[in-house]
Amino acid sequence: MKSIKLVGTGRALPARTLTNSDLERMVETTDAWILERTGIRERRVADDDTATSDLVAAALETACSQAGIRPAELDTIIVATSTPDTVYPATACWVQKRLGIAGSAAFDVSAGCSGFLFALEIAANLVQAGAGRRVGVAGGEVMSKVVNWQDRSTCVLFGDGAGAAVVVPGAGRSGILSSNWGCDGSLAPLLYQPAGGTRLPTSPKTLEDKSHTVHMEGNQVFRHAVRAMGGAATQALEDAGITRDNVALLIPHQANMRIMEAVRERVNIPPERMFSVLERYGNMSAATIPVALDEAREQGRIQDGDLVLLAAFGTGFTWAAAVLRW
Ligand code: ACO
Repeated sequence: MKSIKLVGTGRALPARTLTNSDLERMVETTDAWILERTGIRERRVADDDTATSDLVAAALETACSQAGIRPAELDTIIVATSTPDTVYPATACWVQKRLGIAGSAAFDVSAGCSGFLFALEIAANLVQAGAGRRVGVAGGEVMSKVVNWQDRSTCVLFGDGAGAAVVVPGAGRSGILSSNWGCDGSLAPLLYQPAGGTRLPTSPKTLEDKSHTVHMEGNQVFRHAVRAMGGAATQALEDAGITRDNVALLIPHQANMRIMEAVRERVNIPPERMFSVLERYGNMSAATIPVALDEAREQGRIQDGDLVLLAAFGTGFTWAAAVLRW
């Protein structure tokens, strides 16, 4: 077990809401189709002036305040994102600038929708090794700026937001009982943003053919997501040596209700013990789990000592799961 504790959580969502009815006026789709195929009713969309670091900084500030510390007291900041402010430096550096702090180590983790769990795993290992005592871990995305708003098969899925937590050495029995993570890079072309990197640098052509936006084989993502997330969650439960009955709450990555339901059924946890924010926020990639954690905590759905099962899947393809004792 990694003896850690999440002493504060926070979230930040843009004020603007984009409903399925709004989307009906933008692409050929219907509220009924989106709701039935994804479970999403609305999502938040950042304004032109808002970048990922703005949302992450706000979420992290709340998490720090809940933890009773100032952001300047964090020794490490890890930001999971696929929609960084800039190619470089890391979004975590812009977060420092936004918070008016300096000195802590600050870096990003790029693992798509699994990013927050990857970042949490790194933070837990740092804390366990004595190399970090107050680690800020966040997942944040502004997906709306990398989505092709003319492609109905992707633009209806995503939303913007950020969530954060402060990880410190464990007190009592709190900690990560088990965790696993993995990646199959051979599947990378099934979900990616082709242009803007060194493989396909920005050019008039890449702008014209919209290769700076999300490209996804939806059906393939669906199939692999269920298998990999279900497998990772099952493995985590087995490694923790606990039964499904002991799990107080399942928080899977919130991409699509059908994927979440399939994972829930695989790990055999009753519907009332799965927590979802998907309907209101859509798929916020790396932000979905920390935002859900924060809301679950706020609603009293997670109490000290509770076992929480987290599972994620994303571009890469990456996957991860963890059993957390709160
Ligand atoms: N409105 C209306 N019709 C649509 C829309 C839309 N927004 N999007 C696609 N369709 C149409 C398609 O064109 C297709 O029409 P056709 O039969 O005439 O060709 C039909 O609906 C069925 O399309 P499918 O792709 O087979 O629909 P499916 O049931 O697979 O649902 C979806 C598509 C929702 C994208 C699903 O595959 C999915 O959720 N996949 C997972 C993708 C995902 O969650 N990605 C997020 C990023 S990865 C992650 O977070 C883990």
